[in-house]
Amino acid sequence: MPQLRTPPLALYVHFPWCVRKCPYCDFNSYTLHGQLPEGQYLARLEQDLEAQAPQVAGREVISVFFGGGTPSLFSPQSIARLLEAARRQLSLAPDAEVTLEANPGAIERGAFREYRDAGITRVSLGAQSFDATRLTALGRIHSPQDTRAAAAELHAAALTNFNLDLMYALPGQDVRGAVRDVEEALALAPAHLSHYQLTVEPGTVFAARPPPLPDEDLADAMLDECAGQLASAGLHRYEVSAWARAGAQCRHNLNYWVFGDYLGLGAGAHGKLTFPASGLIVRTTQSREPRRYLAAAEAGPQRRTIECEQLPFEFMLNTLRLTAGFAAPSFSERTGLPWEAIGPEIDAALARGLLERGGDRYRASERGLRFLNELLLRFLPESPRKAGPSALSMATAKARAEITGPLFTARRGAVGE
Ligand SMILES: C[S@@+](CC[C@H](N)C(=O)[O-])C[C@H]1O[C@@H](n2cnc3c(N)ncnc32)[C@H](O)[C@@H]1O
Ligand code: SF4
Repeated sequence: MPQLRTPPLALYVHFPWCVRKCPYCDFNSYTLHGQLPEGQYLARLEQDLEAQAPQVAGREVISVFFGGGTPSLFSPQSIARLLEAARRQLSLAPDAEVTLEANPGAIERGAFREYRDAGITRVSLGAQSFDATRLTALGRIHSPQDTRAAAAELHAAALTNFNLDLMYALPGQDVRGAVRDVEEALALAPAHLSHYQLTVEPGTVFAARPPPLPDEDLADAMLDECAGQLASAGLHRYEVSAWARAGAQCRHNLNYWVFGDYLGLGAGAHGKLTFPASGLIVRTTQSREPRRYLAAAEAGPQRRTIECEQLPFEFMLNTLRLTAGFAAPSFSERTGLPWEAIGPEIDAALARGLLERGGDRYRASERGLRFLNELLLRFLPESPRKAGPSALSMATAKARAEITGPLFTARRGAVGE
């Protein structure tokens, strides 16, 4: 029987409030009405941490991610208090990466220098676009100038390890506009850039009243041009949507993509924990709604064991997003399953040119990335696979809902040629 090993462990903390909900966003985030219940939420997070810490006793935490929502609505003092609690309850690595997500329109709670002094080592800024008209169409609360000012403040605070989130294929955007956004972002010298195609997510305002969006061919042309710009500026694409300078890959997100473990604290946060002694991999979930989370009688989350037959799909859904793919032995180490559980599907995907092999590593080919859904469909359990693309989108949506950190949509939805 292959040996299930304990993977690296990260900590995700979710902050569910935003100044205003963006019409495209399906993250677990809510417009803040009235006063932020800062003290109450912090106390609840600390209680949550205390309840969950014993199950990871002795394990080192390699990264912390304060995500949202808009964590920068919380003061540097609050972030410092949480990090102190994390250091007390967990074994935080001395060189742990500690990321704060920030909206350029919602950082007046503190200067980045103060967040740095609180223990933040990395910031992820939601720039989205540098075109004021596009930002208005996206319902953003900030101007391009706010983003430039935030980036300047990050440099001044020596927080040079920062990410900019950009979206492309925006309402009314052309290739030139998408490239201009990338150029403007690069001019701010970020260490990392996340470049997401705008997707219309069910349940959002955009789904109810879709704006006119560029078609797939135009979106492809935007991506090709932008990719060229990013590569010539010295950024390396290491994941479907993530670009980084050498050494500046996001360690926290990378841990999700190598099927690592994470504790999830906060409203709607999910966790994944591996227990080699019992051979179990467990998902934890919390109440999504802030009021319910605050009022929950149970301090800790609900737990559910991931079924064995689901593991190949979940492993591939993560690792095939990486341009470097995965090393063959990591499949058994992270899932506890023998290689034979995926061998025939791997061989078929190699034969169809959807996967490439180099040494003991497997990764999606260019064609495989383009038809990522077709590739992933192969790793679903037999019965859902027969049901076809709808089962895939349900399985993807389910898995995506359980990852609170990185955006989890496949770049292309096409199943077929
Ligand atoms: C939690 S937000 C980042 C922090 C902060 N809330 C903000 O928006 O500035 C995560 C990122 O996901 C991306 N995103 C959200 N919804 C998206 C969608 N429907 N399509 C593509 N990207 C999306 C945006 O780039 C956004 O910055
Ligand atoms: S994109 Fe960011 S700011 Fe906008 S609603 Fe979503 S989490 Fe909030």
